[in-house]
Amino acid sequence: MNVKYSKFIHPKITNEICSSVQTQLMEEISIYDDSGIYERLERKFKEKFNVQNAIAVNSGTTALFSMFYGAGITHGDEVIVPSYTFFATCAPLHQLGAELKFADCGDNGNIDPQAVESLVTSKTKAVVITHMWGIPCDLDALMDICSRHNLLLLEDSSHAHGATWDGKIVGSFADGAAWSFQGKKILTSGEGGFFATKHRRMYERAVLVGHFNKRAIKEVCYEDLKDFSTTGTGLNLRMHPLAAAVVLPQMDYFEQMMEEKRETALLMKQGIDAIKGLKVVRVPEKANPAWYALPILFNQNQFIINIKQFVEQLNKAGAVEADIPGSTCPLEKYFLFHSPHKISQIYSNKIRIERENFINSINFHNSMFKLDVWYGDERFNFIENYLSIINKVSEQYRK
Ligand SMILES: Cc1ncc(COP(=O)(O)O)c(C=O)c1O
Repeated sequence: MNVKYSKFIHPKITNEICSSVQTQLMEEISIYDDSGIYERLERKFKEKFNVQNAIAVNSGTTALFSMFYGAGITHGDEVIVPSYTFFATCAPLHQLGAELKFADCGDNGNIDPQAVESLVTSKTKAVVITHMWGIPCDLDALMDICSRHNLLLLEDSSHAHGATWDGKIVGSFADGAAWSFQGKKILTSGEGGFFATKHRRMYERAVLVGHFNKRAIKEVCYEDLKDFSTTGTGLNLRMHPLAAAVVLPQMDYFEQMMEEKRETALLMKQGIDAIKGLKVVRVPEKANPAWYALPILFNQNQFIINIKQFVEQLNKAGAVEADIPGSTCPLEKYFLFHSPHKISQIYSNKIRIERENFINSINFHNSMFKLDVWYGDERFNFIENYLSIINKVSEQYRK
């Protein structure tokens, strides 16, 4: 075991990040409009992510809320959501009174377009998707379904910073997209997020819900929305300027980091797929993932221990990042999504959990563990160390 290459540090707190934060501390720690570091960060984000309107907010969850609010989702609307995702993809919809319809995943954990289409009714307003672990969903099929049924397509791109589908960056396809910039994410401000949309009205509504007075007065142009500018419509969701200062310098080495992560993923895939009983999850032909994590499928038939024991053995042997995701899982596990009576006392929307919409999600979750995807000079040491441990443990516990 090589202890040195067991635990990867992300993000790397570089001199550029330290000096960016220090400069920001001296300049301003609260900004009411879209000037200064907000302007610089949002401009960079729009360039890199090929989006027309984008706003920095204080978390991925509030980016998702801004998106749903911006889209005008309200009581009585049905929204098709993934059965398998992190709960914050769906939780903010409760605040708006939407009825959630859970669509099962396919073989790689991403929402299954056929399952989506089977759930469409006359009340469906939007389809929400998450590019799980950074692997893009089948955007061709999902865009086709949404355009045929006149539905909004909304992306949770929190795992997929920089992922592409057919050469085009994820987050630029749909009607709206949200990103988390939380501490573990590829681009991170510690806490933070982004919302982007090609629709000006959706953007202005999102501005209003989280950004009152100066910024809203400057940016909100729709006649029927303008009257709300001074007060906004309820919340303050601004990203902290120091958080913006943490992530801004990361934009400069983002492409290089992505290249290195992709190289790591390729080498890991070659190594993992050569081990009987393990397989990196399927990547669609048109997808170039962001590799937020490397999801690996464990075939129980090939081993004498179960996946939990297998991951424990990997951890013990020094592969400490091998992990069975806890809170990213089939959402039927959660009280929030599982208890229509309790929920309706708090919120007036209805939730119905249909077991058959979770079958693939449960199977996928029960047979998957993940690794980090390393970048930087030490990446080759991590690759060597982890592949050697995984090979050894696999041999030891093979049937
Ligand atoms: C897929 C997904 N959506 C949303 C979120 C929520 O983001 P945040 O923690 O920044 O609120 C996360 C964060 O872990 C996530 O993984």
